[in-house]
Amino acid sequence: MRGEGEAAPGAGRAETRRFRMRVNGAWRGLEAAPSARLSTVLREELGLEGVKVGCDAGDCGACTVLVDDASVCACMVPAGRMEGCRVETVEGLAKDGRIGRLQAAFLRAGAAQCGICTPGMLMAAEALLRRDPAPDRAAVEEALAGVLCRCTGYAKIVDAVLAVAGEPVAAVRAEAGAAVGARLDRLDGVPKLRGTEAFGADGWPAGTLLVRAVRSPHHHARFAFGDIAAWRAAHPAIRAVLTAADIPGRNLHGVIPNLADQPVFAEAVARFRGEAVAAVVGPREAVAALDLEDFPVTWEPLDPLLDVAAAQADDAPLVHPGRPGNLLIEGRVTTGDAEGALRGAVAVVDGDFSTGFIEHAYIEPEAGFARRVGWRIEVHACTQAPHMDRDDLAAIMGLAPEDVRIVPTGVGGGFGSKLDLSLQPFIALAAWVTGEPAGMVYTRPESMMTTTKRHPARIRARVGADAGGRLVGMTFEGQFNTGAYASWGPTVANRVPVHASGPYRLPAYAARAAAIHTHCPPAGAFRGFGVPQAAVAQEMLFDELADAVRVDRLEFRARNALGVGDPTVTGQSFAQGVGIGACFAALRPHWDRLRAEAQAFNAAGGPRRRGVGVAGMWYGCGNTALPNPSTIRVGLGADGTLTLHQGATDIGQGSNTVITQICADALGLPIDAFQLVGPDTDLTPDAGKTSASRQTFVSGAAAERAGRALRETLLRRLNAGPEARLTLEDGVIRAGEGRLDLREMAGETNEHGYVFMAEETFDPPTTPLDANGQGEPYAAYGWGAHLAVIEVDTELGTVRVRKLVAAHDVGRAINPTLLEGQIEGGSAQGLGLALMEEYLPGRTENLHDYLIPTVGDVPEVESILIEDADAHGPFGAKGIGEQVLIPTAPAILNALRDATGVVIRDLPATPDRIHAALRGLSPRTAP
Ligand code: FES
Ligand code: FES
Repeated sequence: MRGEGEAAPGAGRAETRRFRMRVNGAWRGLEAAPSARLSTVLREELGLEGVKVGCDAGDCGACTVLVDDASVCACMVPAGRMEGCRVETVEGLAKDGRIGRLQAAFLRAGAAQCGICTPGMLMAAEALLRRDPAPDRAAVEEALAGVLCRCTGYAKIVDAVLAVAGEPVAAVRAEAGAAVGARLDRLDGVPKLRGTEAFGADGWPAGTLLVRAVRSPHHHARFAFGDIAAWRAAHPAIRAVLTAADIPGRNLHGVIPNLADQPVFAEAVARFRGEAVAAVVGPREAVAALDLEDFPVTWEPLDPLLDVAAAQADDAPLVHPGRPGNLLIEGRVTTGDAEGALRGAVAVVDGDFSTGFIEHAYIEPEAGFARRVGWRIEVHACTQAPHMDRDDLAAIMGLAPEDVRIVPTGVGGGFGSKLDLSLQPFIALAAWVTGEPAGMVYTRPESMMTTTKRHPARIRARVGADAGGRLVGMTFEGQFNTGAYASWGPTVANRVPVHASGPYRLPAYAARAAAIHTHCPPAGAFRGFGVPQAAVAQEMLFDELADAVRVDRLEFRARNALGVGDPTVTGQSFAQGVGIGACFAALRPHWDRLRAEAQAFNAAGGPRRRGVGVAGMWYGCGNTALPNPSTIRVGLGADGTLTLHQGATDIGQGSNTVITQICADALGLPIDAFQLVGPDTDLTPDAGKTSASRQTFVSGAAAERAGRALRETLLRRLNAGPEARLTLEDGVIRAGEGRLDLREMAGETNEHGYVFMAEETFDPPTTPLDANGQGEPYAAYGWGAHLAVIEVDTELGTVRVRKLVAAHDVGRAINPTLLEGQIEGGSAQGLGLALMEEYLPGRTENLHDYLIPTVGDVPEVESILIEDADAHGPFGAKGIGEQVLIPTAPAILNALRDATGVVIRDLPATPDRIHAALRGLSPRTAP
């Protein structure tokens, strides 16, 4: 919509002028710079914060609004062009205080996970439905093509839009005791659909100061500040300039306390491109307009180490002086004589594999504000780990942990990266120093440049089998580029050797994984902690090995799958809950049918070839061989209010809903009776971090225990038996003949304000690993297997994934709709890992150059939920969060080999690499 010669939206600070537009049905007069972004004007002038901003560059579609019934990216439209236009935002969709039909369809389908893309999706769908009230699937996909979602895999969003033309679907209601297993609407869904959910950039107090960071433009550089006082004098609006010298506590943070090594502000040397060296604080307009290029800092670029080969060269400089060889840490698991077993195998395959940095690409860049409250600091920001943030921030601020309050905002996607501190120290320090609220929103490039990534991996593995197609031994060596700072590198190094065998019996096994420093952004947690990279190597080699011993590829896996009582590679065995065999069995009919269909398709000839691939996975729920407790509190107030203090951060995966379902059935009251208190370090006990597929399993088990404990207390007071039915109505609780009027017990409340309360902790039983990695690192594993059908254009090298069938043993499906959403979303990320995603520091720092799957890239996903209950999990449930991504990439890559014979071992398998391989060129050297 930009006219020739017209400034790009948001450019400069042109003079303001008055104009009028009709916004959500009401005429609004505005004074704004004509070049101001419409998104900025809607959010900041009109308070319509349902308009989300994910990139400010037209790439993500989060800011989609309607202008005269057409969907447009509001960040790309100059506000000055809106004179006399009708502008509609998500806030206009609800009528008379009720969500509209499209929003209800989203809620019912489970189409909103984190919810940050939801307003944009809704508006794009609304534009379509006004043109075409009964669109077909292709029309819906086309209409949504410009809006990115990183959580859902799009399937439920498309289903929701299609459902609008049909009969309205009623919400599922669950009676007391029947919440577990029910497809209940997400309890926190409505605010996401109305655009009222407050994410990190929303709901800042009036007058909040803005913080911006000064960052290194070099991967590795020495630096020195010039005359900061003079620079500040030239910018009188600036309220503070912050550097390492302003940090009251320690200038260090890290998710693993004894390895904390990342400075808030670099001192003298920057170790990765984008590392902060200073921050400026001041009024929003003034700071936003600053050109930080003229900040007084001089850089002396130094040679960077950008991959593990360079970092391990004999003459490589050390990224950290105390870490020789740039080795952060390594982990190993050994059992039996792997080399001897391979010598005795009838077939051995081996291979070298590599994967690159993968960007989390959540649609919400890091954002939040902090305020000083006396001698305490409060931080309202997006995070996956409030209590970890509190403790790390307390050390930085020189405060006691109880003097730091973390109030997580809505989290617009995390996938592991929002476990680490990002902007929290900057805003806390700014608020502390100025005494005023201070906020920060990372730009998209800033987010991509500076936050953690999936570890790039270089893997070498060998695996052998006997004549009967049974695995006899495996070796695995993985080098993981952990970037400039430790972050979750130790977790990757420890978790990978445990998992690199896959969910199979391997009597002889030797696996090692090393985390190696470079001058790259810190690599941290990303859905799987290194296991997805390991699974690519292991599952691709298994396909080759199955062929070598002439066993059907699915049968090979089923034959070697772990079962009840079988020792894992760490010597652990389970008496129940080993569902991998059932996953492979569930795929069997699909495998046979889809392979026959592919063969028939290929027999017709032509440049397109179809292939079918399969891969299995396992994933330990929770921390590896470390304590991992969660605590949940539930209380009954004297007014009859039943409150669940649920501190497990819901980043879209559904813990608010699932944990409440669990507690409701354990207690025996209907889920509608619950009021939720979400994560807040002042109000909720520590439910640990949202990572490692632990919240359903660990926090859910704590919620189950808390619910049961409260039930026992109530039944005892009511003199009722264990099977009695509890009711709660108008402040009166009953069971059997017993009756308690809570309103008469107001004088008996405890320090939390409850008449009755239970607070329970669950810490999964694990044992430390010994020097050979032997022990019981997890109380439970999740199991799964994916089957992929792809079509390859052999002339272009392009791949279309046509279908995924995903079988997962979830122990107990607490909420099948949410589980399917995890599977669909996780497998979309696995597809990206296989075929398109690679973050290149300095080159792909935006969502234009870094591609993630769009609605047009994802296939139909058929989910199969298997319920092999775990003894520890709540109602038998296991985790699912990372499990869903792990088998997708190897299944797709195995399908590529099945279709064409091409083996791509350096990811992603982009069309140029596939094309080169099809022409017989080495994919490693392909252009
Ligand atoms: S914020 Fe406008 S397209 Fe991303
Ligand atoms: S629900 Fe779409 S980005 Fe999270």
